[in-house]
This record gives sequence, structure tokens and C-alpha cells, in this order.
Amino acid sequence: MHYFRPTLFEHIRESATRLLSGGFLLTAGSGSSFNVMTATWGAIGYLWERDVALVVVRPQRYTFEFLRREPSFTLSFLPVALDEVLNICGALSGRDTDKVKEAGLTPVELSPGVITFEEALVAIVCKKLYDADFINPDAFVDPTIAETFYPQKDFHHLFIGEMVEVMGRYY
Ligand SMILES: Cc1cc2nc3c(=O)[nH]c(=O)nc-3n(C[C@H](O)[C@H](O)[C@H](O)COP(=O)(O)O)c2cc1C
Repeated sequence: MHYFRPTLFEHIRESATRLLSGGFLLTAGSGSSFNVMTATWGAIGYLWERDVALVVVRPQRYTFEFLRREPSFTLSFLPVALDEVLNICGALSGRDTDKVKEAGLTPVELSPGVITFEEALVAIVCKKLYDADFINPDAFVDPTIAETFYPQKDFHHLFIGEMVEVMGRYY
């Protein structure tokens, strides 16, 4: 039993773009085997005649393993009052902590392999379309980006998902 209903993508297109920079929960996995992390870097757009979400994840994240393995992932947007959840899920690793418990999140499996949380206002369900290394260190036109963000050379990996469903939480 959960309280999510399909929402028209048109209703949230603008707010989702704005919300991305405010942080969201990126989740992949199924049943009790899933992981969630905070993310802010990414984009929502239109590609290959599909509405898509792009997320970039460093290879050392535990969530990275789930994203590589699973056919779907979700972006879950929380109310501002729950910003602390983003801090927790962006500081702890699911590799060695139960951060879902630490953050007080309640997982909801919307369909097999599609997990969000009761606490979210909106969840975007993405079907993975593209999964690749995308950074060529020689391609930075502004070299300070590489120096600032990749001193360890842990370049982000790109996942592009088709936004197949947008679920809004109704009370
Ligand atoms: C506000 C915020 C935004 C973040 N955005 C990203 C991101 O876009 N990509 C990324 O790889 N890590 C990002 N992180 C870092 C991960 O959330 C963090 O390393 C997390 O502990 C990884 O958890 P995991 O090992 O369980 O996957 C962000 C952290 C915070 C606090």
C-alpha cells in the first residue's frame, strides 16, 4: 500500500529541472537489495525522441554498482523540510551503513525493481538507456574543471534514463 499516483510529466517539467540542483535521491535495486545516494549533478532533457534524465556518478559510490546492474533507477524529490535526509544520504555509504534507517526513510517498491520512499513528493522512474564513461580528460576546454573536480581522476560515469513514469505523492 502506498500513496503514489501517475502525474503528467508536463506538470513537473519545470520544477524538476529546478529541483535537480537542490538535490535528490538516486536509487537503484529491488526488494531489500537496493541502494540510495544523494545527487545534484545531472540534467533533464530530450534525446532520441524521449524525455530523459542524465545522472553522473563517480565509480567509488556503492550506488554505482546498482546503477550498472539494474535496468531502472529513480530520482526522488523530497520536501525542503527533509534536507537533512539529503545530507545523510550524501555523507554515508550503503556499503557500510544502513543509511535508509539512519535517514528515517521508508522504502516503497512501486513495481519490481523500482524503489522510492514514502517521504518523497515526486519520484521519476527511469529506464536505463545509456551507461558509459563519458569524460575524456583531454576534452576540457576549461582545464580548471578537471583540476578542481577530478584531482583523483575519479571521473563521473554517465547514466541516461528514459523517464517512463512520474509519480506524485497524494495524501
Ligand atoms: C548535495 C550532494 C550532492 C551529491 N551529488 C553527487 C552526484 O551528483 N554524483 C556523485 O557521484 N556523488 C554525489 N554526491 C556524493 C554521494 O551522495 C555520496 O558519496 C554518498 O555517500 C554515496 O553513497 P553510496 O556509497 O551509498 O552510493 C553528492 C553528495 C551530496 C551531499
